[in-house]
Amino acid sequence: MSKSLQAIRGMNDILPEQTPLWRYFEGTVARLLDNYGYKQIRMPIVEFTELFKRSIGEVTDIVEKEMYTFEDRNGDSLTLRPEGTAACVRAVLEHGITGGGQVQKLWYIGPMFRHERPQKGRYRQFHQIGLEVFNLDGPDIDAELIIMTWRLWGELGIRDAVKLELNSLGTSESRGRYREALVEYLSAHHDKLDEDSQRRLKTNPLRVLDTKNADTQAVLVDAPKMADYLDDESRAHFEGLKARLDAVGIPYVLNPKLVRGLDYYSKTVFEWVTDKLGAQGTVCAGGRYDGLVEQMGGKPTPGVGFAMGIERLVLMLETLEQIPEEISRQVDVYLCAFGEAAELAGLALAERVRDQLPNLRLQVNAGAGSFKSQFKKADKSGALYALILGDDEMAQQVVGFKPLRGQGEQQSIAWDALAAHLATCVVQG
Ligand code: HAM
Repeated sequence: MSKSLQAIRGMNDILPEQTPLWRYFEGTVARLLDNYGYKQIRMPIVEFTELFKRSIGEVTDIVEKEMYTFEDRNGDSLTLRPEGTAACVRAVLEHGITGGGQVQKLWYIGPMFRHERPQKGRYRQFHQIGLEVFNLDGPDIDAELIIMTWRLWGELGIRDAVKLELNSLGTSESRGRYREALVEYLSAHHDKLDEDSQRRLKTNPLRVLDTKNADTQAVLVDAPKMADYLDDESRAHFEGLKARLDAVGIPYVLNPKLVRGLDYYSKTVFEWVTDKLGAQGTVCAGGRYDGLVEQMGGKPTPGVGFAMGIERLVLMLETLEQIPEEISRQVDVYLCAFGEAAELAGLALAERVRDQLPNLRLQVNAGAGSFKSQFKKADKSGALYALILGDDEMAQQVVGFKPLRGQGEQQSIAWDALAAHLATCVVQG
């Protein structure tokens, strides 16, 4: 196929055989979020470029080199959203739904776009489920977010494969003081830093902590530690969070080098990481951003949130073989009809059954075909039962009811009794 007719590199089709697992994952998260009192918000995929520059930070990898930015027909600079927090903050400000101090617990789902180098677990169009909470400044809500994800890992059967890393970046004042100390220390070791870290030292020094370069990491061993620069308020906040995680029994690792790749964070930052996916091990990440709303032109409004990468979590379910059996079956019953009269009667019968059993996954054969070919299709569909309508059944106003997986003889069921009979044999989702 010519290149122009192929999907763009790093942007994937989610094929029919993959969507059941996606829907299972998304459904599980959505139910959990409903149960904890979060409400869904839907934002556009495209926003003014300025929004992301101002919120994520001018000197971040995302803004410097990963955004899909273009000029539209009005000459406005627009960008495909690289993440959801900025747009969510824009939306709550625009609609004034946090202005009077109202608490908002919001979640969103959808595609995000970053021009990164594609590899396993890293794509240019990827999908996140994210959530943001506004107007709660205590550590209790930070704890709730983490507790909720912990429950999710439990429900999905992947709890043993993820680890929580935690840090506090403090308020912007304490971070400022720390930044000064770090710059002073790193400047004294300038020659030993890798090129990228030398550049970051000038533009975004905290990001040097994130380096993968071994020489720079060696320099960092004796660097000033963020924890020593935390103000009392941030320290108390962080202790409050840890006490709550301890109370629930959620293990965590303190990682003083965890700084995150977006500039808006303050106080709590966290990442759930796994070693099951190779290099792209962060499956869920977030933190507090108490200054962001004000920085975007709103009243001072505390905020905290996280986002998880759906591709990475789906990959984990596959890797750990945590795929519930029932999600792979998409058809309960398959109706085969032979001859035109049977086909017409079958259609009407199927609709009557659907009226009575709205959750039944009933597939009616389309495209006619011989007994053999329809039966083959019924089997291939994965259905538990086939319903058979031929001349004999028509004459007696019954259907043949044949179990396709396992024991049981074919039996005849009267049309009027079919829905009641199906209700007893098929567990409906
Ligand atoms: P983030 O760390 O940039 O944070 O992304 C969150 C998650 O999205 C990552 O942990 C990862 O699972 C997934 N992800 C990111 N980039 C890719 C990619 N190229 N391919 C596949 N998956 C990816 C944020 O986006 C923040 N908005 C999170 C947040 C919400 N903080 C506060 N509220």
